[in-house]
Amino acid sequence: MNFEDLMKAKVSEADKITDGFLPLSGRFNSELTEAMNYSVKAGGKRLRPVIMMSFYRLFGGSGKVVEPFMAAMEMLHTYSLVHDDLPAIDNDDYRRGVYTTHKKYGEALAVLAGDGLLHQAYETAVKAFDYEADNDNVIKALRIFADKTGVNGMLGGQAADVVNTGKIIDDDLMYYIYEHKTGALIEGSMMIGAALAGADDDCIETVRKTGSLIGLAFQIKDDLLDIYGSEKALGKPVNSDSRNNKKTYVTVNGKDKSQADILRFTEEAVSLLDTVGGNEEERIFLRQLFKYLTSRNS
Ligand code: IPE
Ligand code: IPE
Ligand code: MG
Ligand code: MG
Ligand code: MG
Repeated sequence: MNFEDLMKAKVSEADKITDGFLPLSGRFNSELTEAMNYSVKAGGKRLRPVIMMSFYRLFGGSGKVVEPFMAAMEMLHTYSLVHDDLPAIDNDDYRRGVYTTHKKYGEALAVLAGDGLLHQAYETAVKAFDYEADNDNVIKALRIFADKTGVNGMLGGQAADVVNTGKIIDDDLMYYIYEHKTGALIEGSMMIGAALAGADDDCIETVRKTGSLIGLAFQIKDDLLDIYGSEKALGKPVNSDSRNNKKTYVTVNGKDKSQADILRFTEEAVSLLDTVGGNEEERIFLRQLFKYLTSRNS
């Protein structure tokens, strides 16, 4: 199968898995569950669950224990987007080709839907014990999940981004923001896949570095697309960063250096990937995926 078809199949697998863990409506909470499911079901690239599954398989995993974690990561990522789009943060009207959750359901419900997805993510991740109750690697994966999503992970980076909006930021702070608000979930996805498959700590650390580089390249590309991309292809507004007076890697380093750095960070990530062994077919897919991310238009 060529890369495009393989990717399509993997995205559709990730969609099905994620949908299977979404909340059902009760008698009095249906507005909440509808708003929670809205943004998840709107689509998205499903990059994080796809890479998690791929790293799980790279290191020999073949069970279903990874599935709750795939869904949990996509829910947690979606919660971060629902809150990121709120008027108090980036104030954007479109996401994944449709109205943002607050435009569709109002601000109050969007805040609660984000909270709901965060809770649902943890409820879902612990379901991994239903598949492999005695596997200590599930506990390891849960620890990674908590660490990479919270104050020392995505949320810490997002908060640093928000409080420094409009300010002049030095390189240390900029790397902190990028490696956390975006890098942490990508790193976490790779690490959880590796941990669940039984990779040892040294290997997981190499995987973490790989994820950090891919995360950095991913956010720089996101910043480039915010300036040079198409709203239609992206499914979200362009020029959100300049409207919010944000200093980004691209405004600091310019288009050409940013593009060159995306390639450089990605090459470094591929070199690290080549050191960890594992299933060759899956490594070839991951190499192609990393390359695709450098040239994506959505
Ligand atoms: C958008 O993430 C937010 C960033 C971290 C840049 P994605 O570009 O993965 O968004 P979806 O999941 O495809 O909608
Ligand atoms: C968002 O970064 C990162 C998180 C949601 C944590 P951006 O604000 O650049 O993401 P987009 O461009 O709105 O997707
Ligand atoms: Mg933002
Ligand atoms: Mg935003
Ligand atoms: Mg952006």
